[in-house]
Amino acid sequence: MIKVNVDGRAIEVGEGQSLLAVCLQQGIFIPHLCFLEGMPESPASCRLCFVDIQGEPAPVASCKVPPWDGMVVRTDTERVRRLQKSALRLLLSVHHVDCRNCPSNKKCVLQDLAKFLGVPLKSKKLEHLQREIGVELDHPLFQFVPERCVLCEKCIAVCRQHNDFSLLTFAKRGFNTVVTCFEKDPDRLPCSDCRACVEICPVSAIFLKNEAAEACLDQPPPFPDSP
Ligand code: SF4
Ligand code: SF4
Ligand code: FES
Repeated sequence: MIKVNVDGRAIEVGEGQSLLAVCLQQGIFIPHLCFLEGMPESPASCRLCFVDIQGEPAPVASCKVPPWDGMVVRTDTERVRRLQKSALRLLLSVHHVDCRNCPSNKKCVLQDLAKFLGVPLKSKKLEHLQREIGVELDHPLFQFVPERCVLCEKCIAVCRQHNDFSLLTFAKRGFNTVVTCFEKDPDRLPCSDCRACVEICPVSAIFLKNEAAEACLDQPPPFPDSP
């Protein structure tokens, strides 16, 4: 067993897990969004899970670091919180915040993170960037709202877990990146008995088409309402 110390608490852990996974299992909360239990490698795209590790010159993403014997970790230093707040503000700057019309309202990881870090869902510190993106996910069962997507990759990862390969992938680049499905033949899609991507999406960017009315997605105005 490996011995680590997190926020003054001694923990014994086995090998093969990230520091983030270990902390979460021990009930030590570190903000995170893109981490998914069982994913072979974290995409480390959300940049939320920073911690300070003694001996490291700068905070590191805890989902990318394995614990080592004697590791001393602080999860709540000032610079860690500063980085986490910046990362969340950046995510929110490209996210269509319209909680009243969103199926994730009141069970939303962004709302929870905003509360935990004391960041308003509609931040004045960063300009809202309107992405020029269209819906790329042409799927017989699922609807996709790119303005909500926070590019966490969880849908792609669970699709891979369920099918040994992922039918979902990212298309385009940078701010215009969107989720798409590369299998265009509806008869070849294994999705009718599987809702894994819909269930894992933390922000209701993918959902069943017959729930579209409930999800108020027909004509989402560009970033209109306060949450
Ligand atoms: S996903 Fe976005 S719009 Fe929906 S509840 Fe969360 S913050 Fe609000
Ligand atoms: S659709 Fe949802 S699960 Fe997929 S990348 Fe976007 S936010 Fe993540
Ligand atoms: S959980 Fe580590 S970068 Fe997203």
